[in-house]
Amino acid sequence: MKIYVTGATGVLGKRIVKELSGLGHAVTGMARSAKGEETVRSMGGAPSRADLFDKDALLKDVEGSDVVIHAATSIPVKKRLKPEDFRLNDRIRREGTRIVAECAAEAGARRLVFQDVVWVARPEDGSFYDESSPVVPTPTLQSGIDGEKIVLEAGGKRGMVATVLRCGFFYGSDTAHTRQMGAGLKKRAFPIIGDGEALWSLIHIDDAASAFVTAALEDLPGIWHVVDDRPVRTGDFLNYFAGRIGAPQPYRFPVWLARFLAGSYSVGFFTASNNTSAGKLKSASGWSPKYPTYREGIQQVVRDWKAEGFI
Ligand SMILES: NC(=O)c1ccc[n+]([C@@H]2O[C@H](COP(=O)([O-])OP(=O)(O)OC[C@H]3O[C@@H](n4cnc5c(N)ncnc54)[C@H](OP(=O)(O)O)[C@@H]3O)[C@@H](O)[C@H]2O)c1
Repeated sequence: MKIYVTGATGVLGKRIVKELSGLGHAVTGMARSAKGEETVRSMGGAPSRADLFDKDALLKDVEGSDVVIHAATSIPVKKRLKPEDFRLNDRIRREGTRIVAECAAEAGARRLVFQDVVWVARPEDGSFYDESSPVVPTPTLQSGIDGEKIVLEAGGKRGMVATVLRCGFFYGSDTAHTRQMGAGLKKRAFPIIGDGEALWSLIHIDDAASAFVTAALEDLPGIWHVVDDRPVRTGDFLNYFAGRIGAPQPYRFPVWLARFLAGSYSVGFFTASNNTSAGKLKSASGWSPKYPTYREGIQQVVRDWKAEGFI
């Protein structure tokens, strides 16, 4: 099949390009620089020097694709976050998604796949939720929710199979947040905030990518959660992670102090439970995570970091 991937140079996209190319598909990946083009080539894809916000130019490169995967995002990685830091990400998710969906439809694609995060539907009381739960919009999540709607409507109108893969919190040896966390734990500068009891639904980045590969190859209409098999308490995760990299056990910070130092957005992320499952995707498709819990996944991250000399 002919497959077009936006975000093909990112932590998620490059894995999608590599896996699909390895299966013999003709994959074209969006690249915005010479370095990006080289990344796409090194993953076995053909680079497309297109601009996400220039429909005519993008359509030329998407033409003839059977599947279009929109994996571009621009999530800020600094510590103290404000809603305005998400401006480019919001534009990618709204205007970019609309353009990608139109290109996919005009190119006659059979499938359109979009990336979002599971916590768009996280209930405020921390209870379990799934794909049927109502979304809980916040200023930084609204654009993803809008992007989901754009993709699902485009599918409905144009006869494409539209798939929204809502991923849990990614981790992996090359993802920016995991590297920040590892470096912070080493210096005992990444604390457990509050009681550490909040649950996280995580996904190793390789498993997130393999879910996109599944959605490229199988008809999966609608919304699907992509998380590993067992949510973990934030305190257990950080203690385990610190232990595996030979770091001291993290300090515990009261919520008020963490809020003062890091702002309420980041603190909310570490103190709100995010308890969901990929049961729907696992029963409807051939996908299941290679790293069923954070333990296997973190062991793999540590192996990569040791080989690279990062720790
Ligand atoms: N579920 C989750 O937990 C989740 C979801 C998303 C992101 N994240 C994390 O957040 C961190 C940052 O994520 P990220 O997705 O922003 O970074 P990333 O891994 O660098 O990927 C972003 C991709 O989108 C592309 N992109 C960015 N701005 C673009 C634009 N204006 N037009 C077209 N393409 C554009 C990038 O291209 P260039 O290489 O050309 O910049 C890149 O290919 C990562 O560590 C990731 O793990 C987590």
